[in-house]
Amino acid sequence: MTMWGGRFTEATLSEFRDFNDSLSFDYLLAQQDIAASRAWAKGLVQAGIINNNEAQQLDQGLADLAAALKLDPRLPLQSQEEDIHSWVESQLTAKLGSVAKKLHTGRSRNDLVATDLRLWTRLQAGSVRQSLLAAIAALLEFAQQAEQAVMPGFTHLQRAQPVLVAHWALAYVEMFKRDLGRLDDALVRMDSCPLGCGALAGTGIAIDRLVLAKELGFANAALNSLDAVSDRDYLVELSAAASLCMTHLSRLSEDVIFFCSGEAGFFKLGDAISSGSSLMPQKKNPDVFELLRGKTGRVLGHLVAILHVLKGLPLAYNKDMQEDKQGFFDLMHSWQQSLMVLATVLPHLTVNREQCRKAAELGYSNATDLADYLVSKGMPFRDAHECAGELVLVASRQQQPLEALSLDQMQQVSLLISADVYPALTLEAGMARRCALAGTAPVKVMQALSDAKSWFTKLI
Ligand code: ARG
Repeated sequence: MTMWGGRFTEATLSEFRDFNDSLSFDYLLAQQDIAASRAWAKGLVQAGIINNNEAQQLDQGLADLAAALKLDPRLPLQSQEEDIHSWVESQLTAKLGSVAKKLHTGRSRNDLVATDLRLWTRLQAGSVRQSLLAAIAALLEFAQQAEQAVMPGFTHLQRAQPVLVAHWALAYVEMFKRDLGRLDDALVRMDSCPLGCGALAGTGIAIDRLVLAKELGFANAALNSLDAVSDRDYLVELSAAASLCMTHLSRLSEDVIFFCSGEAGFFKLGDAISSGSSLMPQKKNPDVFELLRGKTGRVLGHLVAILHVLKGLPLAYNKDMQEDKQGFFDLMHSWQQSLMVLATVLPHLTVNREQCRKAAELGYSNATDLADYLVSKGMPFRDAHECAGELVLVASRQQQPLEALSLDQMQQVSLLISADVYPALTLEAGMARRCALAGTAPVKVMQALSDAKSWFTKLI
C-alpha cells in the first residue's frame, strides 16, 4: 500500500517500484522517523488537530515501535513499503487504526526526510567526534612514548633534517585539531529543524515550529520552507570535513607504511595488527594502514557524488535527493571506523630508536647546520650555503659524513671554520637550535606535547 494511491488507476510496475523504493537503505532512519513523528504528534495537539487522548495513543504506538526496532533494527526490511516514512505510518495504522491516519496532517515526507536525516547525522557525528578524540589521544600517547627518539625528516622523500618522532606525531594532532573544528562548525550550522515546512511551501496548520524544533533538540527552526526541504548543505559540509580528515589519515598511513618498510625500518608493527602473505613466509604487511589509505578514496568519492547529485537541482525537493543517503551512510561509517581503527592500532606501533637515529645521522642532514655555523661566524647565508654544499661534495666523494672531514679539509673551503664546528654538527646541537615556536627542538616539542595534552584535557 503506497501513501499516494487515490489519483492512480493503474498498478505500479514492479521494475519502477524496485527502482523507486528506498526502504532497503533508509530503514536506518527508523528511530529518527519515530522521534520526529512523536514530536509532530505533540505539535498536532497544540495546533488543535488531535486531542490529548489521540496524541497519547500515537505516542504510545510510536514508543512501542521504537522498542521493537531496538530489538530488531532490520524489522522494516520484512515489508514491501516504499520507504521508512510509509513503513512507520503503516505499522502505526495496523496497530491503532484510524487515529494513525491523522499523523501525517500538515507534514510531508519532504520535511520529514530532511528532519530524519539531520537527526541521524547529528547522532553519527557524535560517534565520529568520539573516535576523532580517541585518535588524537592515541597520537598524544604515541608522542609521549617516543620521548626523545629522533628520526629523519623528509622533503621530496629525501632525507632533509632530523626531527623528533614526537614532532611527527604532533603534526597529525594539529591536523586532527583542525578536523575537529570543521566537524563542530558543521554541526552548529546544521542545527536547524526543517519539520513543519511541509512539502515545500510551509504547513497549513497552526504549529509553533520553534517549540517543535526544541522538542527535537535543535537550536533553531529553518527559516525558509523551500530551502528547508531541499537543503543538504550539511551533507556536503560533513562529507568535505570527512574527506579532509581522511586525507590526513591517509597521509599518516602512507608515512607509517614507509616507516615500517625494510628500507626505512623506523617503526615496527605489532603482530596483532599485521597480516602475512599466503605465499611468502617472511612477509609482515601493514594492511591496516593500506586500508585506511584505501578507505580515503572511497570517502572522497562520496563527496564528489553528493555534489553531483545536488548540482543543478531546481527548488525545492526532487527525488534525486533520495540518492543522498547510501553514500553518506557509508561515508559516516567509514570515517568513524577508520578513526577508531587508528586509535586501536597506534599502541601496537613501536619506534626502532637505533635505526631511526642511524638514519637521521645519514644523508648529510646536518648540512644546514654547517651553513648556519658559518653564518654564526659572519658569513652571509648564500655563501655559507655554497661552502656547506662544497663540503658535502667532498665528504660524499669520500663516502664519509660531514663530521668525519678533517679540520684541514674544512678550512680549505673556509677559514672561518675552526674546531668548534664539530660539536655544532652533532644531531643534538642541530635539533636544539630549531627552538623557535613550532620547531623540533626537544624542549619545544615537549612543550608542544604538554600544551596539546592540556588542550585535550579541557576538551573532554
Ligand atoms: N524516500 C524519499 C527520500 O529519501 C523520501 C521523500 C519522498 N518525497 C516524495 N515527495 N516522494 O528522498
